Amino acid sequence: MQIECLPYDQILARYDRATTVFYLDPPYWERRLYRHNFIEQDFIQMELRLRAIKGKFLLSLDDHPEVRRLFHNWRIVPVDIAYTAQRQVGKRFKELLIMNYQAKVTLTSKQRRPAQASA
Ligand SMILES: C[S@@+](CC[C@H](N)C(=O)[O-])C[C@H]1O[C@@H](n2cnc3c(N)ncnc32)[C@H](O)[C@@H]1O
Repeated sequence: MQIECLPYDQILARYDRATTVFYLDPPYWERRLYRHNFIEQDFIQMELRLRAIKGKFLLSLDDHPEVRRLFHNWRIVPVDIAYTAQRQVGKRFKELLIMNYQAKVTLTSKQRRPAQASA
């Protein structure tokens, strides 16, 4: 196993192959939770960068209208999740799984939105 600590674009540049699968878990939209957060321009750049990759990517972000707008060209699966690090037991949060490939996504009844179309 190899562990890297680099800006995501350097990871993409170093490892992108047709056979690579990237999972991207960037800072949330407009939420400043980390030492290094993203502004809108960072998300725009990420979306542009992802257009050029040869491999597959799976990106998780909070469900925000601007996120849906920016990534509308990709496959988007909305999910409801419980954060394990959260103290609010039972509280569920709306997230989006954004990807550039067709995978069978099987959601549990808790993760599925009531009015969700088949993904
Ligand atoms: C949602 S958290 C990821 C949490 C991680 N997946 C985990 O489970 O612990 C987003 C992380 O992205 C980092 N980050 C910010 N800008 C980045 C960049 N340009 N490249 C890579 N990571 C970045 C933040 O510092 C933060 O730690």
